[in-house]
Amino acid sequence: MSAFRVGLLGHGTVGSAFAELLRARADAVHAATGRRPELAGVLTRSEGNFEEVLEGSDAIVELMGGLEPARDYVLRGLRSGRHVVTANKQLLSQHGEELWEEARSAGVQLRFEAAVAGVVPVVRILQEALAAAHVDRIHGIVNGTTNFILTEMARTGAGYEEALAQAQRLGYAEADPSEDVDGRDAAAKMAILARLAFGTPVHIDQVRYEGIEQIKPDDLEYARELNLGLKLVGTAERVDGGLSVHVHPAFLYPGHPLASVAGPYNAVTVESEAITEITMSGPGAGGPQTASAVLGDLVSTMQEPPEASALPPDTLERTQPLEIVADVESAFYLHLEVADRPGVLGQVAQILGLQDVSVKSVIQKGLGESARLVMVVHPVLESKFFAACELIAGLDFMRARPRAIRVIEEEFV
Ligand SMILES: NC(=O)c1ccc[n+]([C@@H]2O[C@H](COP(=O)([O-])OP(=O)(O)OC[C@H]3O[C@@H](n4cnc5c(N)ncnc54)[C@H](OP(=O)(O)O)[C@@H]3O)[C@@H](O)[C@H]2O)c1
Repeated sequence: MSAFRVGLLGHGTVGSAFAELLRARADAVHAATGRRPELAGVLTRSEGNFEEVLEGSDAIVELMGGLEPARDYVLRGLRSGRHVVTANKQLLSQHGEELWEEARSAGVQLRFEAAVAGVVPVVRILQEALAAAHVDRIHGIVNGTTNFILTEMARTGAGYEEALAQAQRLGYAEADPSEDVDGRDAAAKMAILARLAFGTPVHIDQVRYEGIEQIKPDDLEYARELNLGLKLVGTAERVDGGLSVHVHPAFLYPGHPLASVAGPYNAVTVESEAITEITMSGPGAGGPQTASAVLGDLVSTMQEPPEASALPPDTLERTQPLEIVADVESAFYLHLEVADRPGVLGQVAQILGLQDVSVKSVIQKGLGESARLVMVVHPVLESKFFAACELIAGLDFMRARPRAIRVIEEEFV
C-alpha cells in the first residue's frame, strides 16, 4: 500500500523527538498498518508554510503548543478531512468542544493521548476500556515537575526554591516553571480527563487550582510523623449530582496508590463501583516519551477501519451538562503557630466545633515562647473549614496565618 504522509507542526522538544521516532519505527508501523509513514512537511516559526504542509499530508501532528495559531491549524486540518494528533493540553482545555465538534462533523479523528500524563495511556483507557464504566472519581498526579519538587523536598528536607533549582538543573522544570508550579498545567489536564470520564464539557476556567509554592519543609516533616505523603493531586469527582474538578496539594495515606508515585512520574487513579480502582503510571513528559504517545495515536489513525472514534463519548450527559460544584467536603491538615499558654487548644477546638469541624489527630510541640499545633480534621465542607480558619487567624495568640492542606482519606490496601 501507499505511503502515509505526515505533516508536522512544531519541531521543538517533542516535535524533533517525534520526527526521529517516526523514521526509526517506520518499518514497524508499516507492518502493523500496511502503510509506511513518512514526514511530508514540517512547520516551525522559521521554516515551512502551513497550506503547503496541509496539502501534502494525510494526517497532521500538532506539536507547536499555545492557543493560536494551533487552534486555527487544527480546525483547518480537521475541516480538510485530515486526522489530527495533538499533545496540546491548553488548546483542548479551552477549545476542546469546538475541535471535537469539528472532528465529529468532518468524520475524522482528533487524538490527544500525549496531552494528559505523557506516555501513560489514560485517554485511551477512559475512551475505550472504561467507556461504559460509571466513573465516580479520578485522582491524578499529572504534573511531573511538581511531583519531582515535592519528592525532593520530602527526601532531602530542602526548601521549595532549592528543590525547584534542582529540578531545573536536571531538566525536569523549565526556565519559566510558572504554569507547572502554580497548578495551571495540571488543571488543564484534569479538565480534559473530566471531560472524558464524565461526558460533560469542562473548561479550564471551571477548574479550581492551587500550586505548591507555599509548601514549607516543616509541612513535610509533620506529614512524616502523621504517616502522610504530599503530592499535587488533581481530582474530578461526582458530588451531589454535579461534578467537582480541582487541583491542590494534598496529603495521602500510604494505602493510596498515588502515595508511592515519586520523582517526575505521573499517575492516574480511576474509581468506579464496578471496577473499584485502576491506577496507571509512567513518565509524564520528556521528548522521546511524549513522542511515543504521539506515534501511538498516529498509528491508531492509520488503522482501517478505525478502532475507536477517538472522540469524547456522545452521552446524554453531554446534552445535559453536569453542574460544576465548587464547595465540596474534604479532610484537612491544619498547621497553627501559637503562643504557648494555657487554653489555646481549647479555644481552637471550640471554633472548629462551631463550624462542624471534628479533629482526627493532633501533634503539639513546644518551641520556647510559642508552640506548634498540627492537626488532621475529618471531612467537612470546605467553606466551613475555611470560615473556621479565618476565625482562628483573628485570635490574639496566633503567631502566623494558619496553614491548611487537603488530606485524601481513601486507601485501597
Ligand atoms: N515537552 C514535553 O515534555 C511535553 C510533554 C507533553 C506534552 N507537551 C506538549 O507538546 C507541545 C510541544 O511542546 P514542546 O516542549 O516540544 O515545545 P517547544 O520545544 O517549545 O517546541 C515548539 C515548536 O513549535 C514551533 N512553533 C511554536 N509556535 C509556532 C508558530 N506560531 N508557528 C509555527 N511554529 C511554531 C516552534 O518553532 P521554532 O523552533 O521556530 O521556535 C518549535 O519548533 C505543547 O503543546 C506541549 O504542551 C510537551
